[in-house]
Amino acid sequence: MIIIVDFGSQTTHLIARRLREIGVQTSIVNPDKVLQKIKDKKPQGIILSGGPASVYEKSAPTIDSKIFNLEIPILGICYGLQLATYLLGGKVVSGKKEYGPTQLKIKNLKLKITKDLSESFVVWMSHGDEVVKLPKGFDVIGSSVGVPFAFVENKDKKIYGLQFHPEVEHTQFGSQILRNFMEVCDLEVDLKIKDKFKIQNLELRIKEIVGEKDYVIGAVSGGVDSTVAGTLTAKAIGGRFIPIYVDNGLMREGTREHVIKIFKRIGIKPVIVNVAEEMLRRLKKITDSEKKRKIIGNFYIEIFEKVRKKLLAKKLPVKFLLQGTIYSDVIESQGTKHSAKIKSHHNVGGLPKKMKLKLLEPMRNFYKDEVRNIGRKLGLPEEFVSKQPFPGPGFAVRIRGEVTKERLEMERKADEIVLSELEKAGILPNVFLSFPVMTNAYSTAVKGDGRQFGEVVALRVVDSKDIMTSNWTRLPYEILQKISSRIVNEVPGVSRVVYDITTKPPATMEWE
Ligand code: XMP
Repeated sequence: MIIIVDFGSQTTHLIARRLREIGVQTSIVNPDKVLQKIKDKKPQGIILSGGPASVYEKSAPTIDSKIFNLEIPILGICYGLQLATYLLGGKVVSGKKEYGPTQLKIKNLKLKITKDLSESFVVWMSHGDEVVKLPKGFDVIGSSVGVPFAFVENKDKKIYGLQFHPEVEHTQFGSQILRNFMEVCDLEVDLKIKDKFKIQNLELRIKEIVGEKDYVIGAVSGGVDSTVAGTLTAKAIGGRFIPIYVDNGLMREGTREHVIKIFKRIGIKPVIVNVAEEMLRRLKKITDSEKKRKIIGNFYIEIFEKVRKKLLAKKLPVKFLLQGTIYSDVIESQGTKHSAKIKSHHNVGGLPKKMKLKLLEPMRNFYKDEVRNIGRKLGLPEEFVSKQPFPGPGFAVRIRGEVTKERLEMERKADEIVLSELEKAGILPNVFLSFPVMTNAYSTAVKGDGRQFGEVVALRVVDSKDIMTSNWTRLPYEILQKISSRIVNEVPGVSRVVYDITTKPPATMEWE
């Protein structure tokens, strides 16, 4: 067992996932509970997570320094490294900020912690502070161009530190470093731990929560997460699950038909509620993205409450609202004690506080690629499980500024062009996420000898598996050219197309 001390990183839960994949049990604890937890669980190792704070801030989360004298190996990641350095007498400053990929060079490949690593590889950073002086007893194992103390160790005390994130999918050799740390901890892996996702267990859990009589209405969008959650729920409680598709006019073309197809396969007819016009009315003059999310979230709940009342009148006791929330939605909406709020995913932070329905979220602890695999295990066709992610608030968060009928039309048209060109080029199945953004920035164009001052469209295409990190897709120039020409020619009011070449971190995938 490994204890992971959570200082609020977006990726603390991902560390636990990586260790589970290796076959190691973990327990995530808050910093103030750590000594008690060590007494109870007797861990063979401790991982100090990253976090958004700076060690020298007054309110920064910290730990009892006693943990450094317990003879339990410790691995500090990002803030975890900085905190260990600070508490052990080194120095941390608000240094060079670094977000995204960088090259790491390893100085000594003969150590237990560097087993099977290569001399130089890509690691992903996400930090504002930096260690500038190591505490006594520490040596440098690896450095990047910007960070000399990127990988450090105190050999005698078995304390290690990484400025980068080994847990994210884009860091090369990340899992190997964690595996090496497990060896330092003398931990034997237990492959049974990998098996957490037995479909029967997930179904059983839904049955336990819902009970024998109650009904569940499901917020389904045609996306992977709600499709998998809905199918699982239908398997668990049969006809007591009623899927509802809210057609708010902000979804991609063909979504309604896709939803009908999904549930037809399992013999269920979804309830379809059309609110496209009212949605636009409610979004009128709203420019702030958090406000948009809250308005959409509140409207959804209003609709689900109405449906609940209707079904109650028919003597169907609806108690639960099923949502396809996944872990990346939870953590970005400030899901843990010390984490920062990135945005209120409308199905988490965007929900009104007072809600009669209880939430049922069977995918809440899973990442996108895990949800896809659960879908495959459920026998869902690839067409359903490999669909691109699409945000709950739909095009509303891909249109910067006010969502008007005209701009929605522009977005929809540009979106169709992007998808169809990627499809024609035969690369759509390999694209994780692609979309145009109406940026609300304007620029000059010359169209047919006349001047036009039109909107700038940003094209965003990214690679990822679990949503926690992403890289921009290196699309061939010819495809970029084709998309750009078609958008400026075919979408009225567009003057220019730019390609977004920013990694996550720092930039989120969506623009809002
Ligand atoms: P970001 O932009 O946060 O996107 O890197 C991560 C994933 O989440 C989707 N996304 C949302 N989904 N409500 C949702 O249900 C939202 O408010 C929201 N914002 C982003 C996004 O499309 C991507 O798949």
